[in-house]
Amino acid sequence: MRKGLCVYPGSFDPVTVGHADLIGRASKLFDSVIVVVLHNPSKRGCFTVEERVNMLMEVCSRWPNVKTDRYDGLLVEYVKKQDAGVVLRGLRAMTDISGEYQMAQVNRHMAPETETLFLMAAVQYAHISSSIVREVGGFGGDISAFVPAAIAQQVYERLRPRGRL
Ligand code: PNS
Repeated sequence: MRKGLCVYPGSFDPVTVGHADLIGRASKLFDSVIVVVLHNPSKRGCFTVEERVNMLMEVCSRWPNVKTDRYDGLLVEYVKKQDAGVVLRGLRAMTDISGEYQMAQVNRHMAPETETLFLMAAVQYAHISSSIVREVGGFGGDISAFVPAAIAQQVYERLRPRGRL
């Protein structure tokens, strides 16, 4: 097992400033970090997987030990393929806990050797989520405080409404 490696999975639809903060913090804690876009069956995607990966690559380019990837399958399979031992997830509020608890326990059941570690979101980002970005941006609102500066314009352009009524 590659001990200094952690996998940070998510939908990243799109990556937010909260995700980016977590990735930067993880890059200091681990020798290498893989940020991987996976499919969440309970969410309908807005950005394509290619768009999400490209945006992540742009945002992560400032951390030399962070790599971006995609995988169509179970998280535990991907973790095993990479020979990683740690899955990283962020927690924003108490409301995140029940879902994360269930996911961590199911993943542990399937892969007992994989540990899920949680980092608490920085308080200034605790209210930010990809779904908030999609909703505000979908009405043409200003999303520049919610997504990293490097991708703000492209997210705004992509989400901005074009004559729905
Ligand atoms: O950003 P999200 O949507 O909270 O991330 C959830 C994600 C994509 C990490 C999760 O849905 C996932 O791991 N999907 C891959 C399929 C899988 O392994 N499911 C079992 C988890 S119980």
